[in-house]
Amino acid sequence: MDHFLYRDGVLHAEDVPIPEIAAEVGTPFYVYSTATLTRHFRLFDEALEGLDHLVCYAMKAASNQAILTTLARLGAGMDVVSGGEYRRAQAAGVPGERIVFSGVGKTREEMRLALTGGVRQFNVESEPEMEALNEVALSLGTRAPIAVRVNPDVDAKTHAKIATGKAENKFGIPISRAREVYAHAATLPGLEVIGIDMHIGSQITDLDPYRQAYGKLAELTEALRADGHDIRRLDLGGGLGIPYERSNSAPPLPMEYGQVVKETVGHLGCEIEIEPGRLIAGNAGLLVSAVIYPKSGEGRDFLILDAAMNDLIRPAMYDAWHDIVPVTEPAAGAEKRPYDIVGPVCESGDTFARARAMPPLGAGDLVAFRSAGAYGAVMASEYNTRPLVPEVLVHGHQFAVIRPRPSFDEIINRDTMPAWL
Ligand code: LLP
Repeated sequence: MDHFLYRDGVLHAEDVPIPEIAAEVGTPFYVYSTATLTRHFRLFDEALEGLDHLVCYAMKAASNQAILTTLARLGAGMDVVSGGEYRRAQAAGVPGERIVFSGVGKTREEMRLALTGGVRQFNVESEPEMEALNEVALSLGTRAPIAVRVNPDVDAKTHAKIATGKAENKFGIPISRAREVYAHAATLPGLEVIGIDMHIGSQITDLDPYRQAYGKLAELTEALRADGHDIRRLDLGGGLGIPYERSNSAPPLPMEYGQVVKETVGHLGCEIEIEPGRLIAGNAGLLVSAVIYPKSGEGRDFLILDAAMNDLIRPAMYDAWHDIVPVTEPAAGAEKRPYDIVGPVCESGDTFARARAMPPLGAGDLVAFRSAGAYGAVMASEYNTRPLVPEVLVHGHQFAVIRPRPSFDEIINRDTMPAWL
């Protein structure tokens, strides 16, 4: 459920008509709903009720400071994967004890940053990383709390580019080697082993892979405890999928996911951490764009939008589906026809949808891409020197630009000239 509904025939973000934002900000832009962000965070929080838990928002999904601050004020922790994200969490007022540092290639500099500023735990992904973290912690006269990310070799049944829990993926250490790696970690005086971490992939729409993976995690917890490790925290990762194509998908709800967590690892007495990104931000955001030209091609009709692959890369990169709806509600039973919906970038890959049934649209008409709040703005670029797409946050009747569109002067002047030119 989200807070983007038609009212009086016009799509609204909460209580704000989308055309009102478009008139002030220009198109394209991302718009997020505070109410949806809040609702989705709370769904996870409630799904784990009864367990000692922390929901650490995976900010890679959408990391604008206003979004982070909204979630931080609800009590969210943050899952960060770079020094930049760590700084964002700090700037949003998230205390170190609520920041989890994940990622397969943390540098020593990033380790120092988090150890100095405070960190809940590092999710360590390899033995060389463990050695490096040990050295950095000792050089600072401290101990680094760690969980080791184990790869359970489970098929998350999602797109290959976003599956992470199969043996062939670069993530974590094989679960079969976990006891050996934990034994090694316990010998390193700069590390404090506190738990186990796992993340099996993203846009997961079936609970079975979770059930399998968390079952393995429970067995491992018991084996490691028997080996003498004080396993007191389990980080279960993120990955729960969202309904991108509303007419024919209904992925499991956070409450059902919470049930699986309780059934598989609830008895262990561990503190539970989860790292959802997409489910919190995805349906909390739209990308709004205007039609530049309708164009009739050889046997097909195109809608050329002012948004392009640089603004929303998911269709080009993962063949992802996004529902695209007209901002002015079509009359019930209105004629629809198939359009290829494309952007103005000079690549055929700049295609958002093929033969998509839409009401007839003309130049200047607004459309909205649904489910664009996660992995949308954060993956945008300035390809074709198209200014980075702005972001807007809505709260009831109010809206605010939370990242303005840069001017062309700003873009051009970011480059610097070598002395010989
Ligand atoms: N934790 C870890 C360690 C992760 O690698 C990820 C996502 C998450 C949590 C959050 O997963 P979520 O709940 O958002 O599924 N750009 C791709 C998605 C990449 C996901 C990467 N890792 C897309 O647009 O579909």
